[in-house]
Amino acid sequence: MNQVVVIGAGQMGNGIAHVFAQSGYIVTLVDVRQESLDRALTIIDKNLDRQVTKGSITEEDKKATLKHLNVSTHLQSAASKADLIVEAATENIDLKLKIFAELDQFAPAHCILASNTSSISITRIAAATARPHQVIGMHFMNPVPVMKLVEVIRGYSTSDEVTATILDLSKKLGKVPVEVNDLPGFVANKILMPMINEAIYTLYEGTAGVEEIDTVMKLGMAHPMGPLRLADFIGLDTCLSILRVLHEGFGNPKYAPCPLLVNMVTAKKLGDKTGEGFYNYADPKNPVVAPFFKR
Ligand code: CAA
Repeated sequence: MNQVVVIGAGQMGNGIAHVFAQSGYIVTLVDVRQESLDRALTIIDKNLDRQVTKGSITEEDKKATLKHLNVSTHLQSAASKADLIVEAATENIDLKLKIFAELDQFAPAHCILASNTSSISITRIAAATARPHQVIGMHFMNPVPVMKLVEVIRGYSTSDEVTATILDLSKKLGKVPVEVNDLPGFVANKILMPMINEAIYTLYEGTAGVEEIDTVMKLGMAHPMGPLRLADFIGLDTCLSILRVLHEGFGNPKYAPCPLLVNMVTAKKLGDKTGEGFYNYADPKNPVVAPFFKR
């Protein structure tokens, strides 16, 4: 396994391309928009600089990583040479089904098709291909260069051999893989999203304000970020779509998204990516609580 294609140059895609290239794989990052690829390269460069400054890698490591990294807007030609493809496109089922049907046409027969989906069924994605035994979930956490976990999700038809290959590969990336079954939310989001939703309900019901809720969870539970800050970091649209998958998948009202979350997504207050969510990032170094939540 040498040639890796990563699809989608967003927050997750650029982090995934970064860690594969840093581990010596030849990576092609693919996106439909050249400007997204240019932005991803700038972010990867900045994150590598951060690692050099901290002394966790050398300037030579950085140069070697960038040498392993290519970008392309042509999915077909990139996929035709791949040993592994990791899809990290927008969290939209129709888009993922279309991409996987195309990958099945373009990729060599031996190629493993992985998805970084945070909650969409791997079994459903695999059914869009004629090689469901070679389709698997590889769910990285954000920020990818920092977070150690990879949730490895076995679809209904994923083979033992492909699962073993991806578990082993995740270790080669310096990550700790955890194998899980394909049920709504897998493990990470089945537990994380109800906590975030409950924090939003706690705000909505007036128990406490944004900073109070986050401080309780940071200082009381030693979480690196409070749940509302974390929701902004993940993206409120992503949180809402994962809660909807849990709600629909289990048919259990305990997963119903808080109406405040629904309203904020409708109003396009999506967190870091739009500059405002539970916090307002007009000055990124000093985010303030959005004024309409002040008590
Ligand atoms: N690339 C490379 N290195 C990075 C980085 C990046 N994008 N972001 C941070 N770092 C490094 C820093 O250089 C620093 O390195 P050292 O430990 O060597 O000093 C370290 O990470 C810590 O960073 P900072 O000092 O800047 O800031 P911090 O201590 O506040 O940590 C954080 C930042 C790592 C993001 C931390 O706040 C954290 O762990 N937050 C929680 C993240 C989390 O829960 N992620 C999972 C989200 S859920 C998900 O991704 C899945 C899903 O499906 C929704």
